Amino acid sequence: MNFELTDDHLSVQKLTREFAAKTIAPGLRERDRENRFDRNILTKMAESDILGICLPEKYGGAGMDYISLGLACEELEYIDTSARVILSVHIGLNSLTLLSWGNQFQKEKYLTPQAKGEKIASFGLTEPNAGSDVVGIQTTAVKRGDRYILNGEKMWISLADIADHFLVFGWTDIVKKNKRDHTGISAFIVERPFAGVTTGSIHGKLGVRAGNTGWVAMQDVEVPAENLVGNEGEGFKIAMFCLEQGRYTVAAGSAGLIRACLDACVTYSHTRKAFEVPIAEHQLVKEMIAGMEAGFQISRLLWLKAGWMRNVGLRATRETALAKWIACEQAEKAAADSVQVHGAYGFSDEYPVERFYRNAKGASIYEGTREIQKLMQADYALGFRADRPRRVNLPPWPFGDGV
Ligand code: CAA
Repeated sequence: MNFELTDDHLSVQKLTREFAAKTIAPGLRERDRENRFDRNILTKMAESDILGICLPEKYGGAGMDYISLGLACEELEYIDTSARVILSVHIGLNSLTLLSWGNQFQKEKYLTPQAKGEKIASFGLTEPNAGSDVVGIQTTAVKRGDRYILNGEKMWISLADIADHFLVFGWTDIVKKNKRDHTGISAFIVERPFAGVTTGSIHGKLGVRAGNTGWVAMQDVEVPAENLVGNEGEGFKIAMFCLEQGRYTVAAGSAGLIRACLDACVTYSHTRKAFEVPIAEHQLVKEMIAGMEAGFQISRLLWLKAGWMRNVGLRATRETALAKWIACEQAEKAAADSVQVHGAYGFSDEYPVERFYRNAKGASIYEGTREIQKLMQADYALGFRADRPRRVNLPPWPFGDGV
């Protein structure tokens, strides 16, 4: 067993770390205060190949492995969750799915510009009244000739006002919809310019304020049949597949957030004095710092294992859900303790820890709540949920010619 990162991994880590410090950190506090997404960051991400980091070179990607994607997520979220969310949505929820489920036409038309960062992709599953309960979605996709007519509204969509196209889910079989049979759901690529698509941003969020989150409404949107991803009725499985990849990026990003909390607290506790000594010497502060160290190490091991499983072509639904649950929970704890270590200063945005605290909360909700991940673990352990062989898989790394 080899726990060492390769030279390529170390180089991805270094480059993304430098990128985040140079491109994302400047002006971040103001963007967060003003709830402002900076499109320029996307342009710079595209220029530095991050948006196609683990996509095959054949499709314009950088050809790195899935662990490189995790490392990039860690480094981006070390600076800001909003930046990591871009990778979660564009690569995790969308591009990896087109790579695995898309046909040749879809890979050429959509995946290739996505991998090059020329087009930005998002994902629309959740609706105003359906999040965890995927079969509760109301969006419909009725086949008419060589088109599907989509009607519905998607909510809490990252990059809603930014993305060029969305992978959306809706019912193609209304009888199955009424029976809550998930084999009636299908997946489609919907382009922003399609008539009947409107989007908007959500304001007043607790966190991810330098990111864009919103809604996508579809009214009688005509989607060409060639934009159906997979077969009719495979939408639920595709959504689960998307979420598995998205959860992986959230887990890795959360490890980065914990490390950011730890580093901020180490610096602060060496300089801030109380009772005539640096607070680093007080045992209750040490306890919080020890918890952050443990949280980071555990979270990293969990997401690395899930990344390694992807590289070798193993299904990692169970391991990814565990990594997501634990890393997000540890990030919430680390962020809350960071504010505590910083005392009153942690309560203001003079220090980044209050932003970490607000951002950490979201990750225990989006891409599958903490409760969903826990239920999955219990059901695996109890034998209610079986580790199924995957029929549609992420291509193992290194990518072969058949990808
Ligand atoms: N890859 C491929 N196939 C998969 C899969 C994966 N990762 N996960 C499941 N499947 C397949 C299964 O193998 C199964 O196929 P077969 O029947 O052919 O064997 C089929 O899909 C059904 O899977 P399950 O039996 O696991 O389905 P379930 O009904 O037990 O799932 C659930 C229940 C775990 C609660 C699931 O519905 C779930 O994860 N819900 C949470 C959804 C969620 O995360 N929503 C929020 C996402 S969007 C969002 O958060 C918005 C935002 O980012 C802002």
